[in-house]
Amino acid sequence: MSYKNFPMVPKVLFGRGSFNQINDVLAPKRLSINSPFIFLIDDVFKGNTWLLSRIALAYDDRVIFISANEEPKTSQVDNIVEDIILKSKERPSAIIGIGGGTLLDLAKAVSIMLTNDGEAKDYQGWDLVKNPAIYHVGIPTISGTGAEVSRTTVLTGPDRKLGINSDYTPFDQVILDSELTKDVPKDQWFFTGMDCYVHCIESLTGTYLNAFSETYGNMALNLCKEIFSENNLSEVDAQEKLMMASWHGGMSIAYSQVGIAHAMSYGLSYLLGIKHGIGNCIVFDYLEDYYPEGVSLFKKMKSEHNIILPKGLCADLSDREFDIMIDVAMSLEPLWENALGKYWKKTITREKLKALYQKM
Ligand SMILES: [Fe+2]
Repeated sequence: MSYKNFPMVPKVLFGRGSFNQINDVLAPKRLSINSPFIFLIDDVFKGNTWLLSRIALAYDDRVIFISANEEPKTSQVDNIVEDIILKSKERPSAIIGIGGGTLLDLAKAVSIMLTNDGEAKDYQGWDLVKNPAIYHVGIPTISGTGAEVSRTTVLTGPDRKLGINSDYTPFDQVILDSELTKDVPKDQWFFTGMDCYVHCIESLTGTYLNAFSETYGNMALNLCKEIFSENNLSEVDAQEKLMMASWHGGMSIAYSQVGIAHAMSYGLSYLLGIKHGIGNCIVFDYLEDYYPEGVSLFKKMKSEHNIILPKGLCADLSDREFDIMIDVAMSLEPLWENALGKYWKKTITREKLKALYQKM
């Protein structure tokens, strides 16, 4: 048995309004006046002076607005990297991602690809990155994905949806300011929050579970219950607690693994472009055979918050399209092994997965 030597985010700033300190955090990291800070920001913040006016741009610093309507792609990473190289006199001092999982994952991937040759798709997998990334900062504006703390950056590539998992992927600095999440629309709040909930269920019921993962998973799960089920928190409390649930949920899977909902949701996302949070919800809703307690509470929370999930997504798919989704899902072997043990292939067949997808 070989144990993972797992890197963690070395510096964290936490607190309501802590985003105000961004310029002080960044200042010592400037390598030269020709080496800019590049801010990758979710384009929902375009024109949002409440947020943008607090970022002090100097020299060649740039803000690049990016839509998070689609899951991040390897080609998108390559394009951003090329644009940064073309327009910068020197290699950037820092990449700062401000947004949800999509923006955070893009910031991580861009910071890696600025110091590593080739294309982002070449690094999808485990421990393929050779050189340390550029200093990178993550500032979540929605909570749940755990992208702020994880050792991966999940990208859709030409051949697969898979993360760049490496010791160089985690952020060097994270700023957790729950005030930045105050305007998240309710549906998105639920879907992304449920990503965290599903992380907890998949980790806590998995065969990879250990005391490290379990303690973080339990903390995050209890926070999720307080936020989504007990409903007696103030808005500010709920925002702060969800931010910490996301963090702990991410820490829990860091030392274990996710499971069936994630594997199948990657299939949906690869073929149909379904976003991660809602994709997990769509899949998890049908997994009562595998996660009975988790799914029953999920259904309760879903109805308490009047969340309607789309239906009939797979109604008109061809056999070939089902095969593509099943291939993507089944290729994520560690996820299945975590969920069902070493001999998961005895329980999980292509026909079973097809029958599940057909319901969605
Ligand atoms: Fe997730």
